[in-house]
Amino acid sequence: MKKIPVILEGDPGHDDAMAWVLANASPELDIRMVASSCGNQTIEKTTYNARRVCTLIGLDVPMAKGRPRPLLAEPMAAASVHGESGLDGAELPEPAYPMEEMDSVALMAKIIGESSEPITIVPTGPLTNVAALLMAHPELKEKIARISMMGGGVQYGNWSPAAEFNILVDPEAADVVFRSGIPITMAGLDVTEKALIFPEDFERIRALGNPVALVVAQWLEFFYEFHREIGYEGAPVHDAVAVAALVRPELMESRDLYVQIETKGDFCRGATVADFNNRLGKAPNAKVLMGIDRQGFVDLLVEAIATYGKGENA
Ligand code: BDR
Ligand code: CA
Repeated sequence: MKKIPVILEGDPGHDDAMAWVLANASPELDIRMVASSCGNQTIEKTTYNARRVCTLIGLDVPMAKGRPRPLLAEPMAAASVHGESGLDGAELPEPAYPMEEMDSVALMAKIIGESSEPITIVPTGPLTNVAALLMAHPELKEKIARISMMGGGVQYGNWSPAAEFNILVDPEAADVVFRSGIPITMAGLDVTEKALIFPEDFERIRALGNPVALVVAQWLEFFYEFHREIGYEGAPVHDAVAVAALVRPELMESRDLYVQIETKGDFCRGATVADFNNRLGKAPNAKVLMGIDRQGFVDLLVEAIATYGKGENA
């Protein structure tokens, strides 16, 4: 099987961590590196979490730290959702693998530059580092096959009425990415809020009994608590959809749309504005995911987590 070479880039974060659990267990993917971004918590915390998650799942690939701040905006965090550590709820091993000295923009440039085939980037946090990469190395654009990202929502936001967290944290960076011309798969709230893991699914995962399964079940309990209080029936594992879209595209419904990022505005900064009726006459710049086979998604996650009990991922 021809594998898809990918870079995982995120701000773990419960759903980032589950996205990486899925990616690492997916034979369709060849993970070339991982990188942290600031978002759910400070870059120090998300980097520590990223390293602990990699250690838990045995993902020993080059790893680098992202920038400490968005391009222009002040940093924000999502402690209400992910806790003070950025990944509360389960005990994790201390980092066992070394980290590169260069920052994530330099490491992405090196790995993409040296690759003989185009690479797909999977950002599950704010797009700061991906935008910085594109601005510093425009010559590498043609070596980026796709950006399969979690962020935005063409119907509504979650951190403001119009904006989703990852885009709101760094709208200027998102603007650079959406204008880049690189094919984008956008796993926004339109689809990720349908990617619900129900409490009975947590039990299915816990019953797998391997160390990763037990941690994922604890992460889900913690992550769901915030969402339960605001009326969700399950935990929306947003970031894992950006990975699932690569390994099981048939689970997704999508629309090809031209999407612009609102960087100003009194109410709508950070909104992902989709031109549904082609008023601008522009070619689509994003495959916007709109629907998901929820049961298929849950089964995919459960099967991925089960691999940690056997064979390669034991
Ligand atoms: C996004 O925001 C973060 O809190 C999650 O990790 C996810 O990437 C959802 O809006
Ligand atoms: Ca995230």
